[in-house]
Amino acid sequence: MSAQKILVTGGTGYIGSHTVVELISAGYEPIIVDNLSNSSINILDQIAEITGVKPAFFNLDLCDEQAVNFFFATHAIQNIIHFAAFKAVGESVVEPLKYYRNNLFSLVNLLNYCVEKDVNFVFSSSCTVYGQPDVLPVTEDAAVKPAQSPYGNTKQIAEEILQETTAVKKNLKVSSLRYFNPVGAHESAKIGELPIGVPQNLVPFITQTAIGKREKLTVFGTDYATPDGSCVRDYIHVVDLAKAHVAALKALQKPNAANYEVFNIGTGKGSTVLEVIKTFEAVSGQKLNYEFGPRRPGDVEQVYGDVRKAESQLGWKAELDLSDMMRSAWAWEKYLVEHPIL
Ligand code: UD1
Repeated sequence: MSAQKILVTGGTGYIGSHTVVELISAGYEPIIVDNLSNSSINILDQIAEITGVKPAFFNLDLCDEQAVNFFFATHAIQNIIHFAAFKAVGESVVEPLKYYRNNLFSLVNLLNYCVEKDVNFVFSSSCTVYGQPDVLPVTEDAAVKPAQSPYGNTKQIAEEILQETTAVKKNLKVSSLRYFNPVGAHESAKIGELPIGVPQNLVPFITQTAIGKREKLTVFGTDYATPDGSCVRDYIHVVDLAKAHVAALKALQKPNAANYEVFNIGTGKGSTVLEVIKTFEAVSGQKLNYEFGPRRPGDVEQVYGDVRKAESQLGWKAELDLSDMMRSAWAWEKYLVEHPIL
């Protein structure tokens, strides 16, 4: 029997590439669609080095309706994992239309195909939909709070589009995975996060500071009501997150699968910024240059997920801890020094 084809949009990106590796390991045949707007074509060779398989790749802008229709006219696809989206929170505030257009038009173009076929669809959502939750750990039925940025709003609107569409198109089955904070890299150190310009996220900023690309890290906020005054987040290893997509796809393929479900994908454990720094220093043996600064506008004080729904319904649980995340992120940063072509 030939392997099942899985369309992975954004498959050369950070989470997408790790998921492609896990799909291949699980016996699937991923087909990548990406417009390379925030990733490198060389990732395909990196995936091939890890898995022995160079996945099929199509350079396609999902906002181009005609191109999307042509792609589907020539490919019979029943399973889609949709990562392709812009994700820079700060940029989305400055250029909201760029985010609404890219993140929502692409989704609508994909769904136009899906509603005509029997399709299983896994969507990249975010814990950003919860804002600052009233109760921690936050469960999937907690209220969705007004978005803090156009980026966050695209995730909320996308979830609504998916929920409303599956309510009337019963042949389409969707799982929205609400990621907490994805960090780390593949254990081979051949794929990882590739931030363009100055990283906005904590872990790439830490590794770039340690390697000497940045002078120092600023810890945003010291007076939060947390154990050490810095913010708390639920950091999740990108490989665990990638495996969650394979588990979600398998669950959707079961005959009794619900039309629409949302799942928290995290470890269920909160860590402060200072704990992340200390863990990085311990596993890397590097002393990190950092200072304390004011709060960053828009940051919530603390968020971590109740992940029991994913455990019970997907049979998935995060296995890697903060040390694994920091060790792999550091190995990847060092690998990039030797391989600047990425
Ligand atoms: C951000 C996005 C979230 C997105 C996620 C992807 C916002 C409001 N949220 O989450 O929607 O899904 O990225 O990874 O931007 N920090 C520092 N110094 C730094 C950078 C970060 O102290 O130089 C702190 C932040 O204040 C925060 C923690 O590190 O407490 C994590 O920040 P970050 O990695 O940017 O992720 P989030 O803001 O949680």
